[in-house]
Amino acid sequence: MAIRDLSYLGDPVLREEAAPVEAFDDELKALVRDLFDTMVHEEGAGLAAPQIGVSSRVFVVDVRHEVGPEGRVALVNPRLVEASDETEKSPEGCLSIPGVSEVVTRPYRATLEGFDPDGAPITVTGEGLFARALLHELDHLDGVLFLDHLSALKRRMVLRKYRKHQDREG
Ligand code: NI
Repeated sequence: MAIRDLSYLGDPVLREEAAPVEAFDDELKALVRDLFDTMVHEEGAGLAAPQIGVSSRVFVVDVRHEVGPEGRVALVNPRLVEASDETEKSPEGCLSIPGVSEVVTRPYRATLEGFDPDGAPITVTGEGLFARALLHELDHLDGVLFLDHLSALKRRMVLRKYRKHQDREG
């Protein structure tokens, strides 16, 4: 198993549009394994490839504690096919912006299509935290962070808190 270094806020890789995966090869399978290993190590509910410095359209999510076995998923080249009008407000954080969280409004339900690491097409529908995790990770592939969903005022507040947290961590 390989735990990879995380990319943090300010790293340009987090703001890039990640490139589609073109080969479902051993390199991709290793990337997916590393994403799972690193997510577990960091105690996150999801992790996208750009967060370990790889600008590739791949992410993993694990919300089994909320929804059971189907809550563990790796998606390659995902796209959003449906999102509910119904929304939910819930606190959200990001392993790339440690020490802070803020309430983000997201669709309550979302359906994504993509491929598993073997190249088989898959469709994933999540509700609540599962939908939130899927949409948060999908955002990462387009260079979008949860901060971008906040009002300018809230964003400044969160960034101030983040800098304080960084100073303490030294
Ligand atoms: Ni994140």
